[in-house]
Amino acid sequence: MFVSASVALADSHGGDDMEKNDYQHSEEAQEYVHGNPSVEQEPWLLTSGGRIYDNWWIALDGEEPEGTIPSYPTDVNSAQGGSGTWRCKECHGWDYRGKDGLYGSGSHYSGIVGINGAIGHPVEQIARTLRDENRPYIEEMISEDEMLRVAAFVSVVKSTCVGFLI
Ligand code: HEC
Repeated sequence: MFVSASVALADSHGGDDMEKNDYQHSEEAQEYVHGNPSVEQEPWLLTSGGRIYDNWWIALDGEEPEGTIPSYPTDVNSAQGGSGTWRCKECHGWDYRGKDGLYGSGSHYSGIVGINGAIGHPVEQIARTLRDENRPYIEEMISEDEMLRVAAFVSVVKSTCVGFLI
């Protein structure tokens, strides 16, 4: 599946002692996993955007945020809290359909819409909204260049990736 590229990569490097969601990789793989190609072509751009959507600090080799993102509706779902709530997928679902998809019930329910409403919107416009009060990401977390990648992913995600799931 598209957004699981980083998980698949990590698994392929892992031994038996590797825990689920442990994304460690060897030093030699650093550039391959986190580096940027000299020419950023669309497949790389969208894949990178998808990985940021899944978990931006793992994808970008950044620092894991502390505490719960202030906009997470803990009154709706008290089961979630901590750094995981900073992941796009925690609020909008890994199927991108939010409350209308697999996160429509259960321990990940947030009551928040999916991201399909932004399909086809200009990438720069989407990127701007990703720094609003619901998504208070500062540049130290996700730089402008990286935000444009996740916005590019958001603008096309359904037609290229999720069509087969729906
Ligand atoms: C803490 C919860 C939360 C997180 C994390 C979060 N969002 Fe959102 N997002 C929201 C809320 C709330 C809205 C506004 C929904 C509304 O307008 O009803 C929203 C709206 C959106 C929309 C517009 C949807 C539409 O139909 O217009 C997009 C696109 C989006 N978010 C993408 C992202 C991306 C990409 C990330 C990660 C970089 C992210 N969000 C992280 C809560 C979150």
